[in-house]
Amino acid sequence: MTVTDHERQWWKQAVVYQIYPASFCDSNGDGIGDIPGITSKLDYIASLGVDVIWICPMYDSPQVDMGYDISNYEDVYRPYGTVQDMEALIQETHARGMRIMLDLVINHTSDQHAWFKESRASKDSPKRDWYIWRPAKYSPDGKRLPPNNWRSNFGGGSAWEWDEQTQEYYLHLFATEQPDLNWENPETRRAIYASAMEFWLDRGVDGFRIDTVNMYSKPPTLPDAPVVDPKTPYQPAGMVYCNGPRMHEFLGEMNAILTEYGAITVGELPWTPDTQRVLQYVSAKAKQLNMVFQFDVVDVGIGKTHKFATTPKNFALPDFKAAVGLTQALMRGSDGWSTVFLENHDQARSVSRFADDRPEHRVRAAKLLALMEACLSGTQYIYQGQEIGLVNAPKESYPVENYLDIDSLSFYKMVKERYGVDNKAELDKAFDALQYMARDHARIPMPWNGKAKYGGFSEAAEEAGKEVKEPWMKPHPLAAQIDVASQLDDPDSVLAFWRKMLRFRQQHADLLVYGDFRDLRPQDKDLFIFIKEPRHHGVDRMLVVLNFTSEERTWETPSPEELGVLKAPELVLIMSTHPGKSREGQLAAFEGQVYLVI
Ligand code: GLC
Ligand code: CA
Repeated sequence: MTVTDHERQWWKQAVVYQIYPASFCDSNGDGIGDIPGITSKLDYIASLGVDVIWICPMYDSPQVDMGYDISNYEDVYRPYGTVQDMEALIQETHARGMRIMLDLVINHTSDQHAWFKESRASKDSPKRDWYIWRPAKYSPDGKRLPPNNWRSNFGGGSAWEWDEQTQEYYLHLFATEQPDLNWENPETRRAIYASAMEFWLDRGVDGFRIDTVNMYSKPPTLPDAPVVDPKTPYQPAGMVYCNGPRMHEFLGEMNAILTEYGAITVGELPWTPDTQRVLQYVSAKAKQLNMVFQFDVVDVGIGKTHKFATTPKNFALPDFKAAVGLTQALMRGSDGWSTVFLENHDQARSVSRFADDRPEHRVRAAKLLALMEACLSGTQYIYQGQEIGLVNAPKESYPVENYLDIDSLSFYKMVKERYGVDNKAELDKAFDALQYMARDHARIPMPWNGKAKYGGFSEAAEEAGKEVKEPWMKPHPLAAQIDVASQLDDPDSVLAFWRKMLRFRQQHADLLVYGDFRDLRPQDKDLFIFIKEPRHHGVDRMLVVLNFTSEERTWETPSPEELGVLKAPELVLIMSTHPGKSREGQLAAFEGQVYLVI
């Protein structure tokens, strides 16, 4: 037996499709995606081979951080719909044999949440202690200073905000409008579980993607972070405030509730490069989370002082392969589990980031990445638009004024403040970084039909004769070239290839979903050559050969020792990005091949 019954779980083999409500599908023509729009596309999603949908925050929110600032967990942001619309979506998803996960954002709330309004009202408010308040520090010359040097996650400012009325600072690891909840208070925790989790579990949701899952427990003394950017008083502090001492106690409490409902979880786990530390969250024995999103791969090539303080493609293929290898290694011989993903709402498009988005290469490059992902172990996540090979919005046709994300805008503002609004060279460098890495690229409205108005984002409303507004974010300039409609019936499309790869992954789940990964050429700068071996016993192996360059390449058959077999193997080609054209030992530009090793 290559995988034991105990190890085999439906959610490990599942394919999860992530939906960004604002940008998926607009049903009523107001230019904002909505819940009925999602429901209208469930057949399309199911047809890809998807088992679970994950909906990004659709809760009531002032939308400072696109719904990750929640003002009421128990209601829906009205432009997206109502709780009834959500109930219909849950029901329709289940009717198609799929499950549904919501985003659980409980490290912080919006500053407009009733809890925070009460907390901020006075120092002796019963909810004062529900958030993290601290007195000011003072410099020797009497200047008021925040309690420590932590930098907020957006831009370059402090993670503390001064409250004039009550003369204390509150902590916000993200935007000023996203105050951190105080998890030390058991009453607060109970309120969070009831309002954010049980309310929706009772309505039938099947699990949660848990936002910033390792930030709830802060180190008790809130110590300063080491100085890595001497030009500013505020320092990146993720390594200090993540994975605090009570994390596992809190997750244990949550898990007790989730288990009652049979709900599944995937936690977002930033700033945790140590694989053994990651394992503590996802080991089956530890009963904390089913799986996590590790950051190794999506952090490849980011800047040292700030994510955007870098230049496009600032990495070599061995860096990328090593990052992939880290997640794969976590599952080898352990009882832990992880995920396979290259995209989400916080990342630019993978074809642009890790492969090649030039018009002559992007289709092949998208297929190469699809083939690679389908052959990696872990639960597979796909982000809306990834299945059609969407790329970043090009610099020439999507000016910096079109970018709307708080993360992008805070960075651009910081550059202006630091270097001056007339410093063209620095501003251009900043724009280059945004064009390459900004979250905006993932948030551009989905191009359903490039021939229709606004890329078909509000197509149903238009067909019903309604007046259709321009989408909340400028449409993709390449919508006419990369859209769902034209790929649906094209057997050579990226979409058709994804469908094929997801079937292939299921057919060979023992090796592709559960198998052990070994990189055979970690130093090769052009090719990614890895093998998938049975987790326990078994004879089958698969060899995966990927060309990450835009030129032809040759490769040599690995030796029997490298392949872990006794005699010279026979390689049988079972999948390729270039069907009918592949030859052993040769690779066209961005070609990927999979062999059975016998
Ligand atoms: C997570 C979300 C991101 C959000 C942040 C603050 O990283 O994925 O979109 O900005 O948390 O909630
Ligand atoms: Ca709408």
